[in-house]
Amino acid sequence: MSTSQRLVLVLGGAGTVGSGIVKSLLEKGFQVAVISRDNSRLEKLVNFVAVQYRESLHTMVGDVGSEQGAQEAASALVSRVGKVTDVVSSLGFSWWQGGPPHTQSLQELQRVLDILLLSTFTSWKAFFPLIKDNPNGTYTFITGGAGERLLMPGTGFLTLGAAGALAFSQVVREEYPDVPCKLNEVKVNMGVAPPERLGPGYVSHLEVGEAVASLVEKRRVSHTVLCANSTTDLKTLILEGKL
Ligand SMILES: NC(=O)c1ccc[n+]([C@@H]2O[C@H](COP(=O)([O-])OP(=O)(O)OC[C@H]3O[C@@H](n4cnc5c(N)ncnc54)[C@H](OP(=O)(O)O)[C@@H]3O)[C@@H](O)[C@H]2O)c1
Repeated sequence: MSTSQRLVLVLGGAGTVGSGIVKSLLEKGFQVAVISRDNSRLEKLVNFVAVQYRESLHTMVGDVGSEQGAQEAASALVSRVGKVTDVVSSLGFSWWQGGPPHTQSLQELQRVLDILLLSTFTSWKAFFPLIKDNPNGTYTFITGGAGERLLMPGTGFLTLGAAGALAFSQVVREEYPDVPCKLNEVKVNMGVAPPERLGPGYVSHLEVGEAVASLVEKRRVSHTVLCANSTTDLKTLILEGKL
C-alpha cells in the first residue's frame, strides 16, 4: 500500500508537535486529516504547509474530547474524506505552570485531565476500531517526560495529566497484545518547539515530525515505546523507523 493510499489522522495536528508531524507526513505523500476545535488554528496549519501538499491535507472543525464529539468526528471524516488507516494521537497542551497543588482548584485539575487524558481516551475509543484489525494500519501515541517527573516548580497538574496519558498508552498496549495494527508510543523526553523558538533542551518540531512520520511509514515495530532522549535518537528513528 503506497503512502498516497494511506489516510493518517493526526489528533492535535494543529498544535506544536502535531504540525511538525503533519508536515512530514505530507512530504512523504500521505493523505493527512486534522481535527481541531478552532478553525483559525486549522487555517494557520494550512498556511504552514507548502502549497503543493495542501490538496492532501483534510481539515475539519470538531471536538474529540467527548464520546459523542469523537464519534461524530469519526463518522464525518470517513464520509467526507475516506477510510482512516493510521492515527497519531498528539493531544494536549504544550505547557501548564499554574502553581503548586494547594493553590489549585478541582475544576482546574478536571480541565487538565480533560485535555491530556480524557480526550486521548475518547478519541481512541472512536478511532481505534477503524484501525485495529488492519495489519497495514498504525496507532501512535505521542507522550513526554512530564508524565514521569515535575519539570519545574508549579507544573504539578501537567505531570498528573501527562502521567495519565502515559499510563493510558501502556494500558492499550497491554490490553490489546495481539491486534494486527502497529501500536506504538513515541515518548519525547525533550521540549519541542518550532525552529524559531528553540531554547536549551528543546528540539525542533520538524525533527520530531520526521521521526514520527518515518515510524508510521516503515511500520517496523509494534507494542513498543520509542524514547527519544536526544537528536541522535530522532535521527536514528528517521533513518530506521525504530530505535
Ligand atoms: N511541547 C512540548 O514541549 C512537548 C514535549 C514532549 C511531549 N509533548 C507531548 O506532545 C503532545 C502535544 O503537545 P503540543 O505541545 O503539541 O501541544 P499543543 O500545541 O497545545 O497542541 C495540542 C493540540 O491538541 C488539540 N486538542 C486538545 N483537545 C482537543 C479536543 N478535545 N478536540 C480536538 N483537538 C484537541 C488542540 O487542538 P485545538 O486547540 O486546535 O482544538 C491542540 O492543537 C502532548 O501530549 C505533550 O505531552 C510535548
